[in-house]
Amino acid sequence: MIDVRRDFPYLEREIIYLDNAATTQKPFQVIEAISNFYRKHNANIHRGIHTLSVEATDMYEKARERVAEFIGASGKELIFTYGATSSINFLAENLLFSGILKEGDVVVLTLLEHHSNILPWQRLKRFGISLRFVDVDSKGVLKEGDVIEALDGAKLLSITGLSNVTGQKVNIDMIKEAVKKRGVLIHVDGAQLIPHSPFDVEGIDFLSFSAHKMLGPTGIGALYVSETFLDKLEPFFVGGGMIDRVTIQESTFAKPPEKYEAGTPNIAGAVGFAAAVDYLEKFGMKNVEEHERELVNYAIDKLKELPYVTLYGPLDERHTSIISFNVEGVHPHDVAHILDEEFKVAIRTGHHCAQPLMRKLKAVATCRASFYLYNTKEEVDKLIEGLKRVKEWIG
Ligand SMILES: Cc1ncc(COP(=O)(O)O)c(C=O)c1O
Repeated sequence: MIDVRRDFPYLEREIIYLDNAATTQKPFQVIEAISNFYRKHNANIHRGIHTLSVEATDMYEKARERVAEFIGASGKELIFTYGATSSINFLAENLLFSGILKEGDVVVLTLLEHHSNILPWQRLKRFGISLRFVDVDSKGVLKEGDVIEALDGAKLLSITGLSNVTGQKVNIDMIKEAVKKRGVLIHVDGAQLIPHSPFDVEGIDFLSFSAHKMLGPTGIGALYVSETFLDKLEPFFVGGGMIDRVTIQESTFAKPPEKYEAGTPNIAGAVGFAAAVDYLEKFGMKNVEEHERELVNYAIDKLKELPYVTLYGPLDERHTSIISFNVEGVHPHDVAHILDEEFKVAIRTGHHCAQPLMRKLKAVATCRASFYLYNTKEEVDKLIEGLKRVKEWIG
């Protein structure tokens, strides 16, 4: 395994960064790839025949191939978006607009979902599409069997691959088989899954993820659309860059994926996204997952020793990368504030864009520590030391 810490410039600041589920830090290699694009190859793509435009187009399209390959897809199946939220909005609107989702159809979601995988589907309710939610238990644990039971008569399942609150990794392999048997479509919200686990899109219809949660830049993400649907979707966004022929009354579109990328895209972002994928593959996604599981197990064992800490999520082998907890008698914001001020430990507090799940956990907010490949056990020790002090000082 390579020594990654020397590649991350944020570490010059002696910050213990445990807010990776919100966004990750960037290695030199990603920063340099973006900077190199702007310094030497900057031009708009797909339009010019001059050298810089040809280079920029080539870099953008190679980046698409690279990111697609990372999830086992072909380049044409990968549409660049502005991030997971934009991917899911795009998908919901396009499914409706192209008549794949129709009045009377049922979309299945779970209580684990991030708001970004709830609101785009809620908007479809006014077109006669209804939502069916799969419940979780009082610790926020989802049972795959319950998801499968909820599929009868449904058109689409849209489900997170890894909860951004509880760190539960959902068994997508098991679910995708059941989905196929019943002729239901499946979209995986991979915003947390793709950065932390090896994943292949085999058997998946749609997948959304964001570059910034996997060492890449903000403002770019991807929507995987399986080849079966590539020509069936009607683009919701139309305009420059996605056409074949335009007259004043009507137009025909370019072939996918261009058909789905109206306007000038985030070209440098795509280049940075590909550099992030290169970096992760050099480390190895299996190693990423193992490293994080080790940290999570280590942290959970230490947290269990603190009787005033409530832990959420499955607390077993399904638990990866993210831990949510509360400290008895202390507001999560106070926990985070003291950890930051006194111990330089950055955690996230709040509802984590998952208010329906918070309601189920009977918590207005939780503290969330989330890990990535550059975190260490010593950093977990510092978190635990900080929590003990928090309890002593204001518990
Ligand atoms: C599970 C999940 N889905 C979707 C999103 C939305 O991602 P983005 O803000 O990058 O669009 C997030 C962000 O935290 C997430 O954790």
